[in-house]
Amino acid sequence: MRLVFLGYPGSGKGTVAGRIQKAYGVPAISTGVILREEIAEGTELGKQVKPQVEGGGLVPDELVARIVEGRLTEDRLRVSGFSLDGFPRTVPQAELLDRYLAGKSAPLHRAIYLEVDKLIILKRLTARRTCRSCGEIYNLITKAPLKPGMCDVCGGALYQREDDQEDALRKRMREYHAQTQPVLHYYQSRNVLSRVDGGGTPEEVFAEVERAVESDPIPRWKLTKFPR
Ligand code: AP5
Ligand code: MG
Repeated sequence: MRLVFLGYPGSGKGTVAGRIQKAYGVPAISTGVILREEIAEGTELGKQVKPQVEGGGLVPDELVARIVEGRLTEDRLRVSGFSLDGFPRTVPQAELLDRYLAGKSAPLHRAIYLEVDKLIILKRLTARRTCRSCGEIYNLITKAPLKPGMCDVCGGALYQREDDQEDALRKRMREYHAQTQPVLHYYQSRNVLSRVDGGGTPEEVFAEVERAVESDPIPRWKLTKFPR
């Protein structure tokens, strides 16, 4: 399955993409995670994008498109599929992705939009913590780690993202409205958009996403669940 997740900052894209990866083996590719890793490692790319990422602005389209293309290996395009979280977030990015996938004869199956009320989002983001080592996402209210400040999966330290501070968060919301909202219309006009209520518990949201994928009017792909 070749999927895109869309939604406001904090709508749960990373959480649901992680669950799809665990349940179905569909690798999650998050441009935000990749960019933050580059910043943490102090690479040239990381230094270049740090002001935008930490300040809540957007990284240039061509740069982020190149990063994504680099992760779309033959295996992901043809065998395992992939989900993109945080890309595309402008119409030019969506067009670049479509052109790239068309060139590989591997078009997108679904773009899933997680609809969540803004008040819920603000609550989620102030309580979010992320593992510095493996990127596992926590929430002090809804998914607290077993030991405070420590990742249950790898024992890494948990931190609060720079761009979850108030000013950067406001900027991310503005960018979302101006640049990413039009991407919904783009996918709607191509008949691949599914709207999912992202305001429930993580289990409820995951179940809705599964339903959206499985109720595809043109079943373009069969997901195979890993045995639990
Ligand atoms: P990115 O990392 O993509 O940030 P974002 O889009 O703002 O989204 P978030 O990661 O904040 O939220 P999410 O939807 O993943 O929610 P999560 O699952 O964590 O991008 C960061 C920056 O990188 C951008 O601002 C930009 O600078 C740059 N960038 C990235 N991609 C780019 C691109 N394509 N072009 C240009 N620039 C780009 O959940 C949030 C919290 O809620 C967590 O605590 C979680 O545990 C909790 N939670 C999740 N789901 C539920 C639920 N159902 N119920 C209760 N709690 C929940
Ligand atoms: Mg995320």
